[in-house]
Amino acid sequence: MEIKTEKKSITDIKADVMIVNLFEGVKKPGGVTGAADKKYKNIISEYVIKKEKFDGKYGDIYELPLPEEGKKILIAGLGKQEEFTYVKIRDLTAKIVRQCIKTGSVKKIVSVLHGAGIAGLDPKLCARMIAEGAISGTYSFNKYKSNKKENCIKEFIISEIDDKKYKEAKQGAELGVITGEAVNRARDLINESSQYLYPETLAKYAVENSGVKTTVYNKAQIKKMGMNAFLAVGQGSIHEPKLIHMEYKPEKKAKRKIAIIGKGITFDAGGLDLKPPSSMLTMRDDMSGAAAVICTMQAIAKLKPDVEVHAIVAACENMPSGSAYKPGDVIISKTGRSIEIDNTDAEGRVTLADALAYAEELNPDEIIDIATLTGACMVALGTVCSGIMGNNDKKIKEFINKAAEEGEKFWQLPMYEEYGDTLKSDIADTKNTGGRMGGASSAGVFLSKFIKQTAWLHLDIAGTAFLESANAEGIKGATGVGVRSLIKYITE
Ligand code: BES
Ligand code: MG
Ligand code: ZN
Repeated sequence: MEIKTEKKSITDIKADVMIVNLFEGVKKPGGVTGAADKKYKNIISEYVIKKEKFDGKYGDIYELPLPEEGKKILIAGLGKQEEFTYVKIRDLTAKIVRQCIKTGSVKKIVSVLHGAGIAGLDPKLCARMIAEGAISGTYSFNKYKSNKKENCIKEFIISEIDDKKYKEAKQGAELGVITGEAVNRARDLINESSQYLYPETLAKYAVENSGVKTTVYNKAQIKKMGMNAFLAVGQGSIHEPKLIHMEYKPEKKAKRKIAIIGKGITFDAGGLDLKPPSSMLTMRDDMSGAAAVICTMQAIAKLKPDVEVHAIVAACENMPSGSAYKPGDVIISKTGRSIEIDNTDAEGRVTLADALAYAEELNPDEIIDIATLTGACMVALGTVCSGIMGNNDKKIKEFINKAAEEGEKFWQLPMYEEYGDTLKSDIADTKNTGGRMGGASSAGVFLSKFIKQTAWLHLDIAGTAFLESANAEGIKGATGVGVRSLIKYITE
């Protein structure tokens, strides 16, 4: 599907579907919807609004066929004007596109630039959200279905006649395509079967698709770097672990240097502390953090910010076997800190311990890790909201605010030192886990021990990375959470 911006009136663009909108309670539409109403003999005000009582509630979509014109008008409810947001534009567009794909026949859609009229929102951002929503709405993971419904939509046009708004919308739409594609590619990686997606193939994907310089280290090289904690987690698998390091350097002098780390457990069976079947079922999603950082790099390569960005993934599989690491094992991590394995299923933090140490050696100004780390975070926050922790409150707040503008919710969880009390070990510097209570926070405290002084944020996406039922954007399965927030946090 191609996304375009056209400087033409919406009623002059030939398309199968024309999208206009209505704020809640408006009886006589103005702007573009008003113009369409006039052109089609008040059919919107007299019929749709008055007779059919369509009142523009957010997310409601009224389908008005115009058989003589060979097209359909879709009137999208924007809800109350004072409650309108950019994210609503995106989610609504995704919903409309999904609805059009279901028809199997819509080839071309033209949409008004929602929000840029009476609501007075920034045209560039409105267009970005429309483009991103349209791309997101086309998403489905159907490669293994023999009877799949292909996307029938070939073109999605954003119409705007005002010269200035048109120019801004054009730029915005291009940005929306970049972000939307990055999110969809992350979803693809996460939804992929772990049969085919393991450290080596994940690394190959990064090399071929991250768009930036990518180095992959093998087991012997990882060993040389002293990353024994990372290696211990992967030693039960037939698949060799891979350390993936992607780097983007701007042409101009970088304003700051950021390292992003994604948890990359391509399958988490729990190891010898095997998970029960119901918990194991979706554990191919345990590389959602890795997918987020790889696909963020795809966008960074195109957006070219004045920021040096390093993305790191310690990719391995957590399996039970004769060679697997065992409860009670003591491992010397890269920092020299010894870890007693209390539970082999708390593997993410063990791999991250070494990845954090690796990242800190690059001397970045800040480090962000993103991980499907704890069931406890999911219990605390559900699937609505991700957890955020770290050692820098100002940056945590900044991240939360930027993520919110992208419609991604993060909630700060406490990281009091006392949460680390349960991690005390008799034989090593620390245990990797200490029980179920406050599990997201004790995991955060564990990770903090592997950072010396760098500003660090930890994002726990265990509850938000993979959904069993569809969210507001209509997404089920992998969400690609984190990609939008990371792109925004790095580039703005
Ligand atoms: N990958 C899981 C966490 C997870 C749970 C992600 C549910 C997505 C959905 C992690 O490796 C794990 O198994 N954590 C354990 C830690 C426990 C043994 C202390 C958990 O949360 O149960
Ligand atoms: Mg686990
Ligand atoms: Zn895990």
